[in-house]
Amino acid sequence: MKQFFTPSQLARILREESPCKHGHTIVDLAAGHGDLVHPFANSFSDHILVDIDEEAYSILKKNFPNASHLLGDSTDQEFITKIKNLNKKIDLSVCNPPFNYRNR
Ligand SMILES: C[S@@+](CC[C@H](N)C(=O)[O-])C[C@H]1O[C@@H](n2cnc3c(N)ncnc32)[C@H](O)[C@@H]1O
Repeated sequence: MKQFFTPSQLARILREESPCKHGHTIVDLAAGHGDLVHPFANSFSDHILVDIDEEAYSILKKNFPNASHLLGDSTDQEFITKIKNLNKKIDLSVCNPPFNYRNR
């Protein structure tokens, strides 16, 4: 699967510009290795990190050992129900969804 991970400098800028910098739970619905969520991590006590790719998921578990990790398709309604069933009040959701370049 083609993957583009957020450069750390850009992730820091996004955190600086975010209206929500602190809270209880943050979720990343397509977390990759966690590069986007990383600068937010210390300001949130709880992290829900999702990825569909098994390799990214295993790296995510190493990078964020204390997070709730979910392997699966975050666009799937049943999967969203699974997140809801964690019964956590989510303060912030971040996502850098997959995309492709089209050659014209
Ligand atoms: C563009 S990368 C961004 C990764 C990370 N959030 C970042 O910014 O560095 C997109 C990620 O979404 C994952 N992904 C793609 N489709 C997904 C889906 N339907 N549900 C969950 N994750 C998905 C990919 O495996 C990949 O790790």
